[in-house]
Amino acid sequence: MIREILRMGDPRLLRVAKPVEDIHDPALRAIIADMYETMHAANGVGLAAPQIGVELRLMIFGFDANPRYPDAPPVPVTTLINPWLEVLTVETEDGWEGCLSVPGMRGLVPRPRRIHYGGILEDGGSLTREAEGFHARVFQHEFDHLNGVLYPQRIRDMTKFGFIDALFPDSNLATLEAE
Ligand code: NI
Repeated sequence: MIREILRMGDPRLLRVAKPVEDIHDPALRAIIADMYETMHAANGVGLAAPQIGVELRLMIFGFDANPRYPDAPPVPVTTLINPWLEVLTVETEDGWEGCLSVPGMRGLVPRPRRIHYGGILEDGGSLTREAEGFHARVFQHEFDHLNGVLYPQRIRDMTKFGFIDALFPDSNLATLEAE
C-alpha cells in the first residue's frame, strides 16, 4: 500500500526512532512492503520508516538507475533494520540532496565521503559494508531520518538551498518531482 509521506514541519519527522525489537513480526514485513511501494511510486532512492509515520529504526534504499538522480551510480537495493554508522574519514564532500519529505527542493550538503555501515537484514542476518560517494550519502541521509534530522539542517551554505526548477532551470528534475 502506498503510504502518505510526511513533509518537513511534521513533528513526527523530528523524533528519534526506536529500535525494532522483533524482526520476525509480520507487521514489520507489511511496513517494509509499504515502504518499497511508496518509495517506488515517488521515484525515491531511499525511504526511512519515520517518513511514513512509523517510529522505528528501519530504512530502505538503493536503485539501478533513478530519474531524480540521473548521474548517480547504482546503489544496491538494501533493507536495513537497526542500522549503525561509522564514519571513516573526516574529509567531507558536497553533494546535492533532495528528500521525499521536502518535495521540490534541493540543497548542497557536506557529508563524510567514506563510511562503514551495517545493520540487520530482513532474514535476520547481518550486513556490514563500506561505502563512499553517493552510496555513502544516501545511507547517511536515511540514517539521519532515524535520528529526526532532515538534510536542510546539514546545509552549511543556505544560498545553496532552493527549489529545483529555480536552481536547475535547464534540467527536467522539477517535472519528475511534480509527478
Ligand atoms: Ni529524506
